[in-house]
Amino acid sequence: MTTIDPKALPRHIAIIMDGNGRWAEKHTMGRISGHMKGAEAVTVTVKACRELSIEYLTLYAFSTENWLRPQAEVSGLMKLLSSYLKSELPALLENDIRLTTIGNIDHFDPELCKQLEEAKTRTAANKSMTLNLALSYGSQDEIVKAVRRIAHEVADDLIKPEEITRDIFARYLDTASMPDPDLLIRTSGEYRLSNFLLWQLAYTEFYFIDVLWPDFTRDNLLQAIADYQKRQRRFGLTGNQLSSRD
Ligand code: FPP
Repeated sequence: MTTIDPKALPRHIAIIMDGNGRWAEKHTMGRISGHMKGAEAVTVTVKACRELSIEYLTLYAFSTENWLRPQAEVSGLMKLLSSYLKSELPALLENDIRLTTIGNIDHFDPELCKQLEEAKTRTAANKSMTLNLALSYGSQDEIVKAVRRIAHEVADDLIKPEEITRDIFARYLDTASMPDPDLLIRTSGEYRLSNFLLWQLAYTEFYFIDVLWPDFTRDNLLQAIADYQKRQRRFGLTGNQLSSRD
């Protein structure tokens, strides 16, 4: 079992859960079976993060580009999300986990949208951890949406162009209320960001693991955290500058 330092945990972990399709292929099953197995890995990961006292977990569950997949796969993923919410809501409530989303859930079927809103409302006061699902999410769209809102506010004289700083800009993103991820994990051996949190990952530590998402375990999560804990986060400074601040 991998050991980690409980005093140097990442506050926010973001995960690109990749490899469900390849897992299904490997097991000569349909792609939806891969996603179903992937949903089980979601449950394991949420439980592990909660037990470790990770404050924020953001999962890339459905991208803006995923709408272009075969219709049967898209509707299978929607059904899976709906049954995940139904089966996991009691555990979220019991374990003091708040559910939030980023992305455009209003593009979803109204029933699923309602179910998501209800789950968010019912868990809104929970404090121990935030489970943030990226749904119909694309980072470039998120940035464009933010720019558009700022442009309107400038036109309406609510904000001056020179008042727009990085911190102010970040308040217009879907992630406005949360810290940037400290650790990004991508499974399946791919090395891409796939339009995920492009702004928010500016100083995040990346961890790529050659395990398909449905096979991702609690120990894989611990390995990622242990690896993160070995790194020196410099935020653009030199190693010497950092040591002299200690
Ligand atoms: C990427 O694997 C995964 C997705 C597009 C969907 C992720 C969804 C889940 C893990 C299950 C449902 C989520 C929740 C929150 C209950 P891929 O299909 O692109 O895999 P491939 O690259 O091997 O084809």
